[in-house]
Amino acid sequence: MNVLSAPERRSLVSGLAADDPALRDRLTERLRSTEQRLQERTARSVDPRVAGLVGHLVATGGKRLRPLLVLLGAEFGDPGSEDVIEAAVLAELIHVSSLYHDDVIDDAGTRHGAPSANALWGKRRAVFAGDWLLALAAQVACELGPQAVRMNAVAADRLVHGQTQELLGPGPGTAPLDHYFQVAAGKSASLIALSLQLGAVQAGAPDAYVTVLAEYGEQLGLAFQISDDLLDISSPLSASGKEPGMDLEAGVPSLPVLLALAGDDLGDGELRDLIATGPAAGTRQHRRALELLQDSAALAAAGSMMYDRLALARTALTALPQTPALRVLDALCDFVAHRTG
Ligand code: FPP
Ligand code: MG
Repeated sequence: MNVLSAPERRSLVSGLAADDPALRDRLTERLRSTEQRLQERTARSVDPRVAGLVGHLVATGGKRLRPLLVLLGAEFGDPGSEDVIEAAVLAELIHVSSLYHDDVIDDAGTRHGAPSANALWGKRRAVFAGDWLLALAAQVACELGPQAVRMNAVAADRLVHGQTQELLGPGPGTAPLDHYFQVAAGKSASLIALSLQLGAVQAGAPDAYVTVLAEYGEQLGLAFQISDDLLDISSPLSASGKEPGMDLEAGVPSLPVLLALAGDDLGDGELRDLIATGPAAGTRQHRRALELLQDSAALAAAGSMMYDRLALARTALTALPQTPALRVLDALCDFVAHRTG
């Protein structure tokens, strides 16, 4: 099981904010409040069976990275307001909603190391659970005000577009690599950018900071998606909670795979032939394809594209005041570069 316990989530904050105990304690405390509000909100369905369905993925958790980003964005204004906690709840509601849908689309058996909702109760219940969370997110946004309503709508729009573009593949005249970044911007970067922006807006941060935080979030989000792709190839199961090579089996054009397919200099003929067959996990071909990818120039090139995005994220940060929160945003770049799950 790879379900993150509360202490493990705290250790993420402790690691990132290690050099500033006051900020670490404030973030830990506010994440605790966010968690409590999240549980309260999702438990409050008119039908307790619906609450039971949505409670599953809320409880299995994850890193709560998006709420943390909301809280960090708020550090550039007045972080103490109750609205900031609700904004953190909002970001997590959209995220968890998208995961219910994503696991149905991918036919995933597990999420965060626990059985997925679709594996436990079937696709229809999982889809409805995700739908209800999205409705709940819309309610929270209404309570927060027109800016939050607009940001929530934009994030949902971008998420659905990213996911649909992934399904449709590159359109006429769109290069596979451009398509990859369009998809990653929609399905990953959108919510990461929104979280930082929303936190800053609800805390009354200056507009210029909100813009910079959004730019940082877009770049960090792209790097985060690339790191996901790298993990699919190089992370052992125990660390990531996912079987390695799942993208390969499902025919998902992850960045290293796209680069290997792109030309002789990044992937050899044997690898390209194996990728084309979409080798089933556990087969000799799957093992061989993973082995070739792990050692490929394509994997190294994808890694360097991730570092390029992180460099752009760090450049955006130079326009923000030098505060402990800024140092945490900087440390997050290292976290993305070195994460194992
Ligand atoms: C995970 O990608 C996918 C997402 C984070 C976005 C999913 C978005 C939708 C399903 C669109 C609908 C959205 C809403 C809000 C209703 P992945 O499959 O590459 O990663 P994984 O390995 O974590 O599953
Ligand atoms: Mg998925």
